[in-house]
Amino acid sequence: MITIEEYKKRRQALSQQLPSNAVALIPAASEPLRNGDAHYRFRQDSDFYYLTGFNEPDALLVICSGGAGESVLFNRPRNEAEEQWTGPRLGQEDANAVLGVDFAFPLSRLDEMLPQLLAGKSLVYYPLGRSSQWEARFRETWFRVKNNARRGLASLEGFYDSSCLLGEMRLFKSDAELALMREAARVTTAGHRRAMRACSALTHEYQLEAELVYEFTRQGCRDVAYDSIVASGPAACVLHYTENNQLLRPNALILVDAGAEYQNYAADVTRTYPKNGTFSHEQRQIYELVYLAQQAAIAAVQPGCRFEQIQAIVVRTLTEGLVDLGILTGEVDGLIEQGAYRSMYMHQSSHWLGLDVHDCGNYRVNGESRRLAPNMVLTVEPGLYFHHDLQTVASRWRGIGVRIEDDIRVTESGHENLTASLPAAASDIEVLVRGE
Ligand code: GLY
Ligand code: MN
Ligand code: MN
Repeated sequence: MITIEEYKKRRQALSQQLPSNAVALIPAASEPLRNGDAHYRFRQDSDFYYLTGFNEPDALLVICSGGAGESVLFNRPRNEAEEQWTGPRLGQEDANAVLGVDFAFPLSRLDEMLPQLLAGKSLVYYPLGRSSQWEARFRETWFRVKNNARRGLASLEGFYDSSCLLGEMRLFKSDAELALMREAARVTTAGHRRAMRACSALTHEYQLEAELVYEFTRQGCRDVAYDSIVASGPAACVLHYTENNQLLRPNALILVDAGAEYQNYAADVTRTYPKNGTFSHEQRQIYELVYLAQQAAIAAVQPGCRFEQIQAIVVRTLTEGLVDLGILTGEVDGLIEQGAYRSMYMHQSSHWLGLDVHDCGNYRVNGESRRLAPNMVLTVEPGLYFHHDLQTVASRWRGIGVRIEDDIRVTESGHENLTASLPAAASDIEVLVRGE
């Protein structure tokens, strides 16, 4: 659990990083319609949640520079009739006690009060490009304030992206955040284990998806961190396949990329396994090569390692293996330079993980690949994909798609694999699928 004190400290930290005379405007998410008058399940904006822990839609957090982190929340007022239908709302009266914000006002007062909050400020930070509605509102207010400035009241100079500051903060996970991520990882691995055990008896990809979601939900994760990918046979070569509606053929290799979300924190795990519990010769050769690349890349994760080094290790290991298998011919360094692997491995090996599955935070700093540091969390997820019409490889490889993905925390001296309890070695996978 993340305490009210931790949320307060985050708001203070943001306040301290704002240049003097700046204000940050961080909107909550809204509830978009799905169809008719039905809404998508609500998911809070990650930046807003990071700063408040507040899980209601239609709100705005205002933080001023100056270090104290004085915060003003605009949120929905209590409303007995609406609460009868959709449940209790925090309202304004309890906002200080529950969230620790300094002031709370009904959202209906925003148009009147925002010009006062912006008056005298030079810089406005908000998540540029995230919500056109909020953006229009902020710019419209800016014009109103600017008009007053002519009368000597204020001088607004510019808009800046709050995501840059928050991205840096969110990149380093606190102990409380890591506890939530460990729980997301634990439930995720339980879901994968259940799916692996069930798969030999199932007929369709969506049935496998149901096993994952059943276990996630049963263990308290009410949502997935992203749409589950359950891709059998050649569909595994479509990186973000989510149709999940094909027959599971008896000899199919199944790529399952799925992660539970726990209190808005994501896990992101991929395993690839044979439906019948035994890899074919070709499937196993490709699987073992991807596994080798993943193990080598995970082993390199430690403070000081540059982010791009992880991908470099994956590329080298895969290229060497593809040469050994006769799939590529030539000298390894030259093949890497030409990018000969790209038709079979076309994505990055890693991304940050946290409140968002592709979490925020820069991958490059001062023009150089970022060095890893303690309490960053990243995925390591090499893959090989032989598209069914990839004419440059022998037909026996075509249609095979393999990815293996784990969630790795950088520690003081190395790394911790948050999802290590889920088997990944080929023989262990076979044992699990066969139910031995
Ligand atoms: N599940 C999306 C990804 O692995 O990046
Ligand atoms: Mn991933
Ligand atoms: Mn994934």
